[in-house]
Amino acid sequence: MQLFRQVSEFAPALSMDQINGYLILYFYPKANTPGCTREAQDFTALLPEFHKLDAEVVGVSPDKPETQAKFIQAKSLAVTMRSDPDKALARAFGALKESGGILRSTFLIDRAGIVRAEWRKVKVDGHAQEVLETLRALYESDRRINPLISARRAVRALAEAPVSREEIETMIAAAHLAPSCFNNQPWRFVAIDDPQTLAAVKGAMPKGNYWTGPAPAIIAVTSKSEIDCQLSDNRDYYLFDCGMAVSNLMVQATGMGLVAHPIAGYNPVKVKELLGIPDDYVLITLVIIGRPGDPETLSEKHREVELGPRNRKPLTDVLFWNRFEERS
Ligand SMILES: Cc1cc2nc3c(=O)[nH]c(=O)nc-3n(C[C@H](O)[C@H](O)[C@H](O)COP(=O)(O)O)c2cc1C
Repeated sequence: MQLFRQVSEFAPALSMDQINGYLILYFYPKANTPGCTREAQDFTALLPEFHKLDAEVVGVSPDKPETQAKFIQAKSLAVTMRSDPDKALARAFGALKESGGILRSTFLIDRAGIVRAEWRKVKVDGHAQEVLETLRALYESDRRINPLISARRAVRALAEAPVSREEIETMIAAAHLAPSCFNNQPWRFVAIDDPQTLAAVKGAMPKGNYWTGPAPAIIAVTSKSEIDCQLSDNRDYYLFDCGMAVSNLMVQATGMGLVAHPIAGYNPVKVKELLGIPDDYVLITLVIIGRPGDPETLSEKHREVELGPRNRKPLTDVLFWNRFEERS
């Protein structure tokens, strides 16, 4: 499975400003030949079904644009065609034979630029239908709750294992991509990995947060009201925006197999002093960073939570349609 950093990486090569949904990118050797005609006609016949699933079908070949245009007209095709005369795109996707010819291949790419399915040495018979069925299954699973959101937990059992600065920077870079009011980016992070500072910060926590002991790093998240939108009716957005940033950070950590657990249990005045954070800043949270460890190291209460099911109020307690209802 290939991963493209962003869809925009290959959108210019396809002369597309942006790709809004799924992209079915299929490489074919030569316009007007029997196999390539059948493949294009099969995709054309199913195009309305692909569109219903937010997918665009783009056929790519080394043919000139004029040849492709004639092909479309002569065979009544509706798929989009793109010319790749120097086979650069085919090479990038590994859709070239050793001889340099095109290896008939199809890639199903999502809007994050991830190749979710790929077919190489394609046999034309039934291929378009198979791609459609794969897309349908992905479309449905992508409309369920994002697996990284489901998988994130406030994990407490930590391993005695390091986390690199590169990993910490990646998590913070993900946090920094969060939206914020007026793009104020009010979050400030102090990443703590020096053993002495770490020990001092852990020393400013109550007994209940004993489980932070093995954490190889902590990210302090701080901000103040004045550096973000202060709007009418108590809408001070700095806490909200920092919350979104931490949420990004946690999801990113989950994807990386790391723990990022925000806590409120610490002495904020003491920790601010330890880290040189000015008095007028709020130390919103300390995010405990580490790798998942053995739940046996936890207290009985925490072990039960760690291994137990996700505990949430019913959705009907927090979601109201069209009119607010006060519920406890
Ligand atoms: C702002 C905040 C403060 C928290 N403080 C602590 C804490 O001091 N100690 C702790 O063990 N867990 C703390 N938690 C973890 C929560 O208890 C946990 O997120 C909640 O029980 C839901 O569980 P889940 O995150 O696994 O879904 C905190 C979480 C948040 C978001």
